[in-house]
Amino acid sequence: MTTESLIKVCHLSEIPSNDMRCVSLADRKVLVANTSDGVFVADEMCTHEDARLCDGNLSGTKVKCPLHGSRFDLITGQVLDDPANIDLVVYPVTLVDDDIYISIENS
Ligand code: FES
Repeated sequence: MTTESLIKVCHLSEIPSNDMRCVSLADRKVLVANTSDGVFVADEMCTHEDARLCDGNLSGTKVKCPLHGSRFDLITGQVLDDPANIDLVVYPVTLVDDDIYISIENS
């Protein structure tokens, strides 16, 4: 049986509008993007090689890897361009008083 935990990531005020930051949590590193379509949280590392996606570019809800240019959709995690071919892990986000929480499955 799996259960879910809510993990606090940061406060919304720490992420400027239409920008993103990498945040280190206890057991993982995540990318937080504050877009006009909402707040999105994903794993910070590109699925292709070792590149932090927060060092790339954010355009709407798409993030572009700084190393080889693959883009990922932060809503679904879907990879949109080569050379990456593995989707990004994205997390369900909950906002409570502008604190950003993600849901993590515990197995
Ligand atoms: S490391 Fe991101 S596309 Fe290669």
